[in-house]
Amino acid sequence: MTTVTVRAPAKINLQLAVGPLRPDGYHDLVTVFHAISLFDEVSVAPAEADSVTVSGEGAAQVPAGPDNLALRAVSALRAAIASGTGAPGASGRSGLAGRTGAAPDGRAGVAVTISKRIPVAAGLAGGSADAAAALVACNELWHAGLSLQELCEVAARVGSDVAFAVLGGTAVGRGRGERLMPALVPSARYHWVLAFADGYLPTPAVYGTLDRMRGPLAPGPAPELSDELMSALRSGDQEKLGRSLSNDLQAPAISMFPALRKTLAAGQECGALGALVSGSGPTCFFLARDAGHATDLAVALSGTGVCRSVARAAGPVPGATVIGPQAP
Ligand code: C5P
Repeated sequence: MTTVTVRAPAKINLQLAVGPLRPDGYHDLVTVFHAISLFDEVSVAPAEADSVTVSGEGAAQVPAGPDNLALRAVSALRAAIASGTGAPGASGRSGLAGRTGAAPDGRAGVAVTISKRIPVAAGLAGGSADAAAALVACNELWHAGLSLQELCEVAARVGSDVAFAVLGGTAVGRGRGERLMPALVPSARYHWVLAFADGYLPTPAVYGTLDRMRGPLAPGPAPELSDELMSALRSGDQEKLGRSLSNDLQAPAISMFPALRKTLAAGQECGALGALVSGSGPTCFFLARDAGHATDLAVALSGTGVCRSVARAAGPVPGATVIGPQAP
């Protein structure tokens, strides 16, 4: 096997409750992640040295050097395997000892090829999806045998949303967002419409705007999981789900990107059950009643001219998944 291809999903946050700024520059969160059927594909193949090539949606904005999140994930996996610290257990015993972290043919590098459909800096964790896909792909390429939990531990070191892109489904995230618990909710299929904005928002700047809006004297309460949202997910009540979507980053995102107010209003006027900015924005998402309603909503939204483009997506979907080794 010389090439492994993995696809990894975008995420939306059904709830994003942000606590005060921590000394390490992050914010404590309670978030409900939801993986949707908008995927990037990442292939890895043995090479003399690490490299990355990016094509597709927003490729020009993706760093092609060592800053690329997928390459950082490759390095993190290699380091975890080399030091045996991928899954530190209570005993400190390593589950990774003896694994090589290199392709069977001995070539130490990896050529990573990313085919993007998830827009960049859009609040959909596209970079995290690429990192998650690279982790899962190299685990396969190197026959490293890390478990899902071990991969999530390595993922958490690469970025706050990477572990969720490995896990997928619907999950509650705490800490920086990297401490995950799958949501124990009945299987359901929700239909979403995404409105992609003409522009982007850098995540740290949106968190910074939230901190300034709250002011130093009111850094915000400790974030709490929304009972209303969880009860809507447990019962599959879509009207209630639509009403209970929430995102503390929505107000700062709108203040930095005022056109989003119109996008959200347009979706509501077109009959969406719920409307929210995704993560740190600027993508907005809308809940539809069913697949047909999602199509109607997408057509109506694109007719309003309030966004660059629209897409339909279903959720939840699995996390990063191997879709094919290819023969040479
Ligand atoms: O972890 P990641 O690199 O995805 O985070 C990007 C930036 O988003 C961080 O540098 C930080 O400014 C902000 N962030 C935060 N609190 C979080 C997650 C991200 O402030 N829980």
